[in-house]
Amino acid sequence: MRIYSVCMLCSLIIISSTASDTGVQPIVALVGDDVILPCTLRHTVSAVHQSVEWQRPDLKPKEVHLYRDEKDDLVLQNPVFRGRTSLFKEELENGNTSLKLTRVKLSDAGNYTCYIPLLDHQKTIIQLLVGESTHLLTTQTPLGDRSHEIKGEFNVKSIA
Ligand SMILES: *[C@@H]1O[C@H](CO)[C@@H](O)[C@H](O)[C@H]1NC(C)=O
Ligand SMILES: *[C@@H]1O[C@H](CO)[C@@H](O)[C@H](O)[C@H]1NC(C)=O
Repeated sequence: MRIYSVCMLCSLIIISSTASDTGVQPIVALVGDDVILPCTLRHTVSAVHQSVEWQRPDLKPKEVHLYRDEKDDLVLQNPVFRGRTSLFKEELENGNTSLKLTRVKLSDAGNYTCYIPLLDHQKTIIQLLVGESTHLLTTQTPLGDRSHEIKGEFNVKSIA
């Protein structure tokens, strides 16, 4: 039963049992998936009255999701995450501050920090890896690269 319920998550999350104590196991998702970036308070205390800051330090603005004063505060949220992030409100009282990210994009790959400033400055780093399905692979050739190809072809023809 336990194994079964863990495997239901396998399509969204690949759990590496060996790395679990170091907190560095990457989360793997496919483009278009919904994914949960796990974060729990070290001691089982409620997070309802805490500030919870999810960030991508490599982005500007770096805010992914901010919860404070018992509600979401998305004023500073990076627009690439608009409408795609949520906390599990009913889980906050269990100290579970995991982030749900929906409709994952390739550009979502990166390192996310879950930061609880008032609680020992607890900071958890979650690495998200994003793979593309073969279908999306064929339709997502970057426009920049393609126009370069076309331009290159044109030049060859005009020389000949
Ligand atoms: C936190 O909540 C999410 C959503 O309910 C759940 O999937 C996850 O397993 C929870 N994490 C822990 C450590 O309980
Ligand atoms: C995320 O962190 C890992 C491990 O520290 C590192 O190897 C990787 O380069 C980082 N990725 C990004 C996009 O910064």
